[in-house]
Amino acid sequence: MRTILVLNAKGGCGKSTISTNLASYYAFEEEKKVILADYDPQGSSLAWLEARGEEWPAIEGVAAFKDKLHHARDTDILIMDAPARVHGKELTAMVRKADTILFPVLPSPIDMRAATDYMKEVRAIGKIERKEAKIGVIANRVRENTIIFSELYDFIKKLKVPYVATLRDTQNYIRAEERGVGIFEMAPSQVYQDLESWEPLTKWLRSKRSMPDK
Ligand SMILES: Nc1ncnc2c1ncn2[C@@H]1O[C@H](COP(=O)(O)OP(=O)(O)O)[C@@H](O)[C@H]1O
Ligand SMILES: [Mg+2]
Repeated sequence: MRTILVLNAKGGCGKSTISTNLASYYAFEEEKKVILADYDPQGSSLAWLEARGEEWPAIEGVAAFKDKLHHARDTDILIMDAPARVHGKELTAMVRKADTILFPVLPSPIDMRAATDYMKEVRAIGKIERKEAKIGVIANRVRENTIIFSELYDFIKKLKVPYVATLRDTQNYIRAEERGVGIFEMAPSQVYQDLESWEPLTKWLRSKRSMPDK
C-alpha cells in the first residue's frame, strides 16, 4: 500500500481539494482500491464522499479524526487529508505513516511566509531527513501572469523541495466538490486545462522520485 499525506498548517490552501481529486485519479484513472482518511473534524473529504454517486468507482472513507485507521489488506492507495495546525507529536505521527507528502501553497504573502516556517518544521522530522518520505510542493489557486505567481515561483524554488504542479484557480474544483467527483470524472472538454495541470503531479507520483529511498 502506498500512503500519500496532503499537508500544510494553513486552512484553505487546498488540502481537501487535492486529496479528493487524487482519490478520484487513483480510483477512476488507475482503477486502484483507494481509502480516503479525513483527519480534519470539519470532514470536507467525507462530505465529498457522501455526495459521490454509486455510478463512480467506490472510494472508502475513514473519519480518521475520531476513528482508528483501519484498511483492508488489498488497499492500493491511502490518502491522508490533514487538518490545519498539526504540529509536534501529532505531526510526527502523521508523517510516520506517509511515503509521499503533498504540500499545497497558495500565492499569497501570508501563506508563503507560513509555509516557509512549516516546511522547516516538517523537514526536521527524522523520517524526512532520512528521505524515507518525499515531499512535493503544489502551487494552488494560481492565476497565471500575476506578479504574486512569479513571487510564489521564486519562493518555492527557495524551499528546495520538488515543485510538482501548478493548479489554477477555477470553478471546476468547486463543481467537482459539489458533485462528489474529481476533475478526472468530469467532461474533458470542460476540464482539459486542469487535466493537463495534473499531469506533472501524477507523473511525479508514478516516478521513483516520490518514493522513499528505503
Ligand atoms: N484550485 C482551486 N480553484 C478554485 N477553488 C479552489 C481551488 N482549490 C481549493 N479551492 C476552494 O478553496 C476552498 C478551500 O479549499 P480546501 O481544499 O477545503 O482547503 P483545506 O483543506 O486546505 O482547508 C474550498 O472551497 C475549495 O473548493
Ligand atoms: Mg480540508
